Order: sequence, then structure tokens, then C-alpha cells
Amino acid sequence: MNDFVKIVEVGARDGLQNEKSVIHFEQRLELLNRLVQSGFKSIEVGSCVSPRWVPQMDKSTDLYAALEKPEQVNFSLLVPNIKGLEAALQVGCKEIAVFTAASESFAHKNINCSIDESFARFEPIFALAKQHNIKVRGYVSCVVDCPYEGAIDPQKVAMTAKRLFDLGCYEISLGETIGTATPIRVRQMLQACLDVIPVECIAGHFHDTYGMAIANIAESLNQGIRIFDSSIAGLGGCPYAKGATGNVATEDVVYLLEQSGFQTGIDISALLSAGDFITAVLQRENQSHFAKVYQAKSLI
Ligand code: HMG
Ligand code: MG
Repeated sequence: MNDFVKIVEVGARDGLQNEKSVIHFEQRLELLNRLVQSGFKSIEVGSCVSPRWVPQMDKSTDLYAALEKPEQVNFSLLVPNIKGLEAALQVGCKEIAVFTAASESFAHKNINCSIDESFARFEPIFALAKQHNIKVRGYVSCVVDCPYEGAIDPQKVAMTAKRLFDLGCYEISLGETIGTATPIRVRQMLQACLDVIPVECIAGHFHDTYGMAIANIAESLNQGIRIFDSSIAGLGGCPYAKGATGNVATEDVVYLLEQSGFQTGIDISALLSAGDFITAVLQRENQSHFAKVYQAKSLI
């Protein structure tokens, strides 16, 4: 259906991985249950990375195991290496996401290896994933700017995305990691990627540091992209990209899409209630413009 846009809810992973405090297991579980009730069909549960690198994501596999998983929802775990996949397999995970970058410096800071080395790590992951019939999504970080190298050449992004696609990723999520991009630069980057990857296999993953994420999504829609990652309440950031704020808020993405004639399948009331829950737990403000207006109105 051409007017349907898929939203991949990444708040429980990309959002919570960057919180200063470690969120209790039961609270993470409650958030995930509420996301399911809000109608998401694709939810990132957490990551199987080193707890020394990202302690907030510890016990993500236990979380996956504890979660009630309706059949129509795809739950995934982020995996950096074969050890991560083995952990994911132990709890019966059916979808994983691997991640690399279009910037060498960012790859070193984030995963302690070069881009080529990250692809070498992916090879056994894909072999094992194929054996177990696991779907693999792929992320490319720093698709417009890198916090260490500055502007990234769109051709380098396209080449990295194509490598992931050729390895067998069914979908490539283009990570605008530090939220500095503007629509014209997003268009240039997307056009390079669209030359080598089918449009239906590309997702936009925008962080909102400069408040440009919604404009960048609007531009991506113009380029034919129909899959976007977002975080409830705009939670998130990246522990290896200093100053980068959260992902674009899901509530605002839903508003943009539904007001533009697209369908998302999201129950906005349930989503707002889930946002109230997690922002109360974190004792932080909801970053969504839509949620703030809604809260203000409900106080009148
Ligand atoms: P390393 O230190 O080079 O790895 O880290 P190592 O193989 O030498 O292992 C070191 C220790 O980590 C060992 O433990 C391993 O067992 C353990 P020790 O023997 O010393 O006690 N270890 C693991 N433990 C649990 N699960 C694992 C695992 N692998 C090794 N899978 C490594 C390399 C990749 C592990 C590390 O750099 C890491 O975990 N990095 C993760 C960083 C991360 O999670 N970043 C945030 C996610 S990416 C992101 O947010 C961007 C995105 O949103 C898109 C965008 O916005 O751009 C996706
Ligand atoms: Mg991210």
C-alpha cells in the first residue's frame, strides 16, 4: 500500500542507551508492552553489546525473553558481533540489526574497529543468521556528518549501504547520527543511495539535535522513502557522538505523516500515554512538540 509508512520504534534501544541512569528492567518491559499496545509492528528491544561499553543495554536478551510477543510484531536486537548474535539466538530472536558507519573515526569510537573490520565481523553473523533464518537489518551511521570527521561524502555512504545490502540486509537504515543535516544535504545523500539500493529497502534514521529531523523526513518522503526510525518522546542519542540529542520524536513523525495523508497504524492516544509513562520514569520532559501541546491542552 503506497500510502502506508512503516515506523520502526527505537526508543527502547537508541533512546534508553543514552540515559545517564540505568532504567530498571521492569520499566523497560513496561515501555515495550506499551509500545506494542500503541500499534507498532517493528520495535527494537535493546542491544547485545558489551555492557562495559553501554551498561544501559545490559539484560536486553532477558528483556526479549520476558516480553509478550504478538506474532504480527517484529522485535529486533542490535548486534555488533557473533557473540551478540549467539546471545540473541539463545532467546529465540528472529530479527537482528547490525551496525557500521560511513566514517572511519566514528567506527573506531563506536565499535573499536575500522569499517572493513566491521564487515569482517558481519560475515560470520550473516552465515549463522542464514542458518537460523534470522532477518538482518543494517545501519550506516554518520550518513551526512561525523562528529570527528565533519562532512561525509554521499558516495561513501552509498557504497557502505550497498555493501550491507549485498551481504543480505533486507533493509538499510541511514543514520543521521548527530542531527546536523538539512534537507538539501539529505537529498544529495539519498540520491546517491537510491542509485544503488531499491527505495523500499531504505529507512531514514534522524536525530534531532538542530531541530531539522522533521524537515529531513519531509524531504525523504519526497524522495520516496517510506520507512522511518523514531523514538517515543524523542528519547535518545548516541553514547559515542557527544552532544547528539535524541531521535526524532515518534509522536511528531506520526503527526507529520497522518496530516500528509499517510497511514501509520499507530494509536496516538496510547502512544501519548506511553510517552507520559517513560518521561515520568526518566524525570525528563517529553521532547515531542505534539505531546507538549497535547499536555498543555489537557491542563486547560
Ligand atoms: P572490544 O572491546 O573491541 O571487544 O569491543 P572485544 O571483542 O575485545 O571484547 C571486550 C569485552 O567485551 C570482552 O569481555 C567480551 O567478552 C565483551 P571481557 O572478556 O573483557 O570481560 N563482549 C561482549 N559482551 C557482550 N555482548 C557482546 C560482546 N562482544 C564483546 N556482543 C564491541 C567491541 C563491538 C563489543 C564494543 O565496541 C561494543 O559493544 N560497542 C557497542 C557500541 C554501541 O552499542 N553503540 C551504540 C549503538 S550504535 C548507534 O546508536 C547508532 C545507530 O542508532 C544509528 C545512528 O544513529 O547513527 C544504530
Ligand atoms: Mg541512532
